[in-house]
Amino acid sequence: MAQRSVKKTTGRGTASSGPRGGDRQTLLILGASGDLTGRLLLPGVGGLLACDRGRDLLLLGSGMEPWTQAKWHKRVTDAFATQHAKGALVTKALADTSYTQADVTDPEQLKMLLDKAVGPVSIFFALPPAVTALACQALTKVDLPRDTRLVMEKPFGTDAASAAKLNELVLRLVPEENVFRIDHFLGKSTVLNLLGFRFANRLFEPVLNNLHVAKMEIVFDEDLGLESRAGYYDGAGALVDMIQSHLLQIMTLLTMEAPPTLTAGDLRDRKAEILRATRVWADDPVGSSRRARYTAGRIGRRKLAGYAASPGVDPARKTETLAEMTVEVNTWRWAGVPITLRSGKALSTRRKEAVITFKPAPRLPDGFHGSPQPERLHIGFGPDQMRLQINVNGPGDPMELDPHEMVVDFGPGELSAYGEVLAGVLDNDPGLAVRGDSAVDCWRVVAPVLRAWKADKVPLDSYPAGSTGPRKWKETGGDPQA
Ligand code: BG6
Repeated sequence: MAQRSVKKTTGRGTASSGPRGGDRQTLLILGASGDLTGRLLLPGVGGLLACDRGRDLLLLGSGMEPWTQAKWHKRVTDAFATQHAKGALVTKALADTSYTQADVTDPEQLKMLLDKAVGPVSIFFALPPAVTALACQALTKVDLPRDTRLVMEKPFGTDAASAAKLNELVLRLVPEENVFRIDHFLGKSTVLNLLGFRFANRLFEPVLNNLHVAKMEIVFDEDLGLESRAGYYDGAGALVDMIQSHLLQIMTLLTMEAPPTLTAGDLRDRKAEILRATRVWADDPVGSSRRARYTAGRIGRRKLAGYAASPGVDPARKTETLAEMTVEVNTWRWAGVPITLRSGKALSTRRKEAVITFKPAPRLPDGFHGSPQPERLHIGFGPDQMRLQINVNGPGDPMELDPHEMVVDFGPGELSAYGEVLAGVLDNDPGLAVRGDSAVDCWRVVAPVLRAWKADKVPLDSYPAGSTGPRKWKETGGDPQA
């Protein structure tokens, strides 16, 4: 199988690798008339085709809606325009792309779609999980072209058992290396830069362990509300939408041992070890998790209705819009270090970062005054920035200690996060995709918390949209905003 080295982390986004160009291949999008395709996938394809890592791509769209070719063409053109995508490969892809109305749960119609493909085919399931499973079932009755790749969005299954079952089904179609369970956070350039930061420097790696680290937080607070996504979100909630997938993936990159190479095999082995060792802090899902839901409020000039009153929401489901859980990676290196994962919607400020808080210096020489703050390393995932907060003395009173920051700004990656994961698919490099065993483990890690919440053992708190979260969370301490 072709191996593309996963990434060269340059500190200024990611650099391209491997040979460019090559034979024509096909990206077949199932669910092409849906929101994901228009908002994220097609812009990602456009950006990829426009850069020097582009491929000669036949782009085929399929959906239930009876769209005309003109309507599809406009959708693709508009999406490419958002990326200012130009160049020969873009023009060619636009000239050849087509849309076919089809029922993707019908083997005959899938066969008809696959007959249009040229070269290796990547089938992107931009579909709800239940329909994806039905489409895979239907594909078992179709002879797939050689080197077919299956590309699946989160959520992969709805719990550990269904994810394991879906794994069995997809492995009847193609080998594991051809299954791309994508997580676009793994394509974000700063997330990828965690590898370079940790493993291409001598300075930090020796102190990233339980001797020196007091705690870690991975926070993804958004100022966006539900954004008309009730159909999906109300059945998921913040824990499944963000923590079960994206934040656990970031955690694996922050805590894994150094892989010998950046090939998919080594990288995914290292990540899998971490997930296998991860469990809810103190095995206490009630004491180690919190949940809340936003009520009506204002974010800047925007007025937001309360989540429970939003169209499409069933308030009785008690879906949380802010979730927090603390876990432990139970290895020699990390045992005893609490790692808090938190994500919420409709909060006052965007806060998207990992924060590593170090233990205090073992002893402060007599003579210093002022109170040293714990050293903290902030790794921002938008704005893409690294900030190291340290204690220094002076200026002014030379013995007075003050916190200061060393700041590194990262330029944007060459590709969008979606473009980056798509590059992996088209290059047949699953390094940035989630392996089957890890997809199951991510569900296993959050399962005790989901069970406790379902049994109402953890209160569903509330916070006004545009606030920093429930007031009570601040008062009881441990607030990662602090
Ligand atoms: C998606 C979640 O996967 O990631 C959304 O479903 C979330 O709820 C989004 O807003 C955040 O990703 P990004 O790339 O917009 O920062």
